[in-house]
Amino acid sequence: IKLTPKTEQTKPISDMLVGVFFEDINYAADGGLYAELIQNRDFEYKLSDKQGQDKNWNEKTAWSIDGAGQFSIDSLNPIHPNNKHYARLRGADALRNIGYDGIALDKNERYDLSFFARGTSGKGRQLKIRMSTKDGKILDEKSLTVDCKNWKKYQLTLTPNSTCKDAVLELVFTDLQQLDLDLISLFPQHTYKGRKNGLRKDLAEAIAALNPRFVRFPGGCLAHGDGIENIYHWSSTVGPLESRVPQRNMWGYHQTVGLGYYEYFQFCEDIGAHAVPVVAAGVPCQNSGSHGHPLGGQQCGIPMEDMDDYIQEVLNLIEWANGDKNSTWGKVRAAAGHPEPFHLKYIGVGNEDLISNVFEERFTMIYNAIREKYPDIQVIGTAGPFFEGTDYVEGWKIANKLNVPIMDEHYYQTPGWFIHNQDFYDKYDRSKSQVYLGEYAAHIHGRASTLEVALAEAAYLTALERNGDIVKMASYAPLLAKEDYTQWRPDLIYFSNTDLNLTPSYYVQQLFGRNNGTEYIPMEASYSNAVVDVQKRVAFSMVKDPKDKSLIVKMVNILPVTVNIQLDLNKLNLKAETAVVSQLTGNLDSKTAKPEERTETVEKLKHQQLPPYSLTIIRIESAAK
Ligand code: AHR
Repeated sequence: IKLTPKTEQTKPISDMLVGVFFEDINYAADGGLYAELIQNRDFEYKLSDKQGQDKNWNEKTAWSIDGAGQFSIDSLNPIHPNNKHYARLRGADALRNIGYDGIALDKNERYDLSFFARGTSGKGRQLKIRMSTKDGKILDEKSLTVDCKNWKKYQLTLTPNSTCKDAVLELVFTDLQQLDLDLISLFPQHTYKGRKNGLRKDLAEAIAALNPRFVRFPGGCLAHGDGIENIYHWSSTVGPLESRVPQRNMWGYHQTVGLGYYEYFQFCEDIGAHAVPVVAAGVPCQNSGSHGHPLGGQQCGIPMEDMDDYIQEVLNLIEWANGDKNSTWGKVRAAAGHPEPFHLKYIGVGNEDLISNVFEERFTMIYNAIREKYPDIQVIGTAGPFFEGTDYVEGWKIANKLNVPIMDEHYYQTPGWFIHNQDFYDKYDRSKSQVYLGEYAAHIHGRASTLEVALAEAAYLTALERNGDIVKMASYAPLLAKEDYTQWRPDLIYFSNTDLNLTPSYYVQQLFGRNNGTEYIPMEASYSNAVVDVQKRVAFSMVKDPKDKSLIVKMVNILPVTVNIQLDLNKLNLKAETAVVSQLTGNLDSKTAKPEERTETVEKLKHQQLPPYSLTIIRIESAAK
């Protein structure tokens, strides 16, 4: 194949094409990115979180006692009305938490332990706080005295003397008096950027290493829940931890919301990505028809008499993010430690909802209210669940009627679909809304994360770059999955309490995220082999990154044979003599393929061979003369 750049046809493309989609699915938040090590720290798990599936899932999950005493759950005078339940211990020797299948501890790392406690009398009560192995070897122990009749917060630091991947935390009682305990929390001090109430360092670093230009959160379906009562309310997720409102996670577990809107925004700021919060469009998940919820069905939406309050909640979010520190909601942000605004620019309204009248009415009300009060905020609408009925067409009709700036599309398809539909956005009308491809991934039978799916995604990404004038943003979904706690496959990053498994799709996203550009240079291809199906299996793009004047060529070969490429760089008047070449290749069913990097002379790259099943990215730094 001979590739000839058409520099005269260069066009500007989005500077925020590749981002990430974060949803608390697959234990992505609690037990995952959120660095809290204690499971059910606030005794707020409920049988209904699991919709009656698991009788062991309740306020005592992950907790047990030693000794013949009593361990009950009470709710009289809690630390906060939003956190109703606490543990009452009488006569027990110790209270133990096993974390999420054990607590992973690192030797000599410091861990911050905190809890709320109250005794029955003002008399001091001695407690020992202990980190131990499952078979009782003490890793560290400290003592403290609980000396109050009213709730009081206690804090100390523990430092285990050896590494243990499945430790337990124990509160050991030295007398048998009654004691109430709540919000028992343990965090490593080494969170991402050392933030308090922060994020697990290795996971956050792996996300940051994608160089995402934006982070979408909190979902996915989680954003609109599987019933009106399960809609995610951002304002319930900010403020002191004890005042946040924990709730059922529609993926079958529990959300502490310790990882809440403040933490999401802070993470975005820490990694230099735009925050893209998504709020429900006044309707729950696909009007909840698909989840069989009793409140579900086509007509399910927030009652009209409650819509003003709901719209106000959405407007409050924008004030919270961007308002002056003296504004009502800006004050809440400032009190959490961020007096400066977060500079929010985008807000998603709705997530692949069924496009019914109920949806349209509510979406329109929210959209108009945002436009009127905050004309600079770009609203991202939803095109419904792709390929399902007429939602996509109807969703776009609304977009056209209301001039919605950006539309969120979702599709999970086979690798073949992605390979054969690379022209999907070539056909989009440039005078209409821009596109945010908010969820996509190539799925094969068994839903494995292989090089095959990753290369199909890579080919599609070259097409997204070609259409970067209309496709503003794209995010693979979902991002995270905890091994043994996975509801949805494939995912970009699999993790356990101690390890990460980065998939070939992860590396594709990383290579595109790190090699983004803001100018697209079309390339004309002349083929010695003219079969169209073969041609579609070799995809390419060329972009320029103005930051360091790099010229970046991406080439994907999804054929079982080597492809000879003649890259005509002559007219580009290149200054640099060498380029960095990143290449991801392997067997189609490889789950462990990783990119390798090398330096080549530009001269050599003019005639090169693309290995079978490969993604090759050439970055010619300071290319321009
Ligand atoms: O990404 C997983 C789920 O897929 C999302 O929650 C939902 O939006 C889509 O159906």
